[in-house]
Amino acid sequence: MKISVQGSDTAFECGDDYILRAALGEGLGFPYECGSGSCGNCRFELIEGDIIYPHGTPSILTEKDAARNRHLACQCKPTTDLSIKVRLFSEYAPLHQPSTFPATLTDVIPVTHDIYEFQFETDAEQPFSAGQYALIELPGVPGDRAYSMCNTGTEARRWDFQIKKVPNGKASVTLFDDVQVGQQVHLSGPYGRGYFRGFRGRDVVLVAGGSGLSPMVSIARAAATAARHGEQVFFYYGGRGLVDLAGEAFLTPLEGYGDWMHYAAALSDSGDTGSHFKGFVHDLVKSAHGDTLTGMDVYFAGPPLMGAAMEGMIREMKIPSDQVFYDRFY
Ligand code: FES
Repeated sequence: MKISVQGSDTAFECGDDYILRAALGEGLGFPYECGSGSCGNCRFELIEGDIIYPHGTPSILTEKDAARNRHLACQCKPTTDLSIKVRLFSEYAPLHQPSTFPATLTDVIPVTHDIYEFQFETDAEQPFSAGQYALIELPGVPGDRAYSMCNTGTEARRWDFQIKKVPNGKASVTLFDDVQVGQQVHLSGPYGRGYFRGFRGRDVVLVAGGSGLSPMVSIARAAATAARHGEQVFFYYGGRGLVDLAGEAFLTPLEGYGDWMHYAAALSDSGDTGSHFKGFVHDLVKSAHGDTLTGMDVYFAGPPLMGAAMEGMIREMKIPSDQVFYDRFY
């Protein structure tokens, strides 16, 4: 099926695939963030032709969207040639053109009481960058789930993910309870713009909470081997209680840890938090760096509440947007 972007000479082919994936696979700058139906950033207007939602109409589409024939490119597939209206932006053009490929689960390693590292091997030579994410298609789970890699893309055919178990979350329950070592799933990726830009003459702040550990560990690992000109890396992890603490064990083996790479955690529980900062991780970041944050590169990943708090702090501190990198999944 051919998809033509109205008002431009851009057109791309889309077989039995989601429109967003096909567009990014062609290297086009189709706007998106989550890739999984929750942020709404991939909305487009359908001018002509028909589409289907294989897993049902996304709940975030409003009556206004329906009235204007607006759809989510990450959730629908064409059933005819289409003419669509969407503004393409060069900043969304993929760093590595994504593809979909099978991957075999080779190991599962506990990180905390509810975060585990799932390691996959694939036959595909698909590159990715530190901090990017993939969509995992799980047997019996409608739709795909977005998870970030914790490795750096330098080991050929290895895609590792640190994933938090969400009770009652169908995808995470399936992944934790049903998918066995040796089993094959499908990965699609890489996606995301929260990837490591290398050292740019500014100190780097990495802020993680929950499964957001994974992309921040990936970036710390990439930073450890990147060309550096005296910059420091500050890694912050936010959790509730002492049982949630994570991250430092991945940093200690890295070049520079304890010298120019640092770790601290914030715990928000009212109970014992040991010697760690008591409160939310964005407050720890603010109290540690204050106004100097405006001169730093900031990366973050975590649950919606943490993400919203980080966005608020970044606005309040007036950190320039070209120094802030994240993917919004909410
Ligand atoms: S809803 Fe499609 S990219 Fe987020």
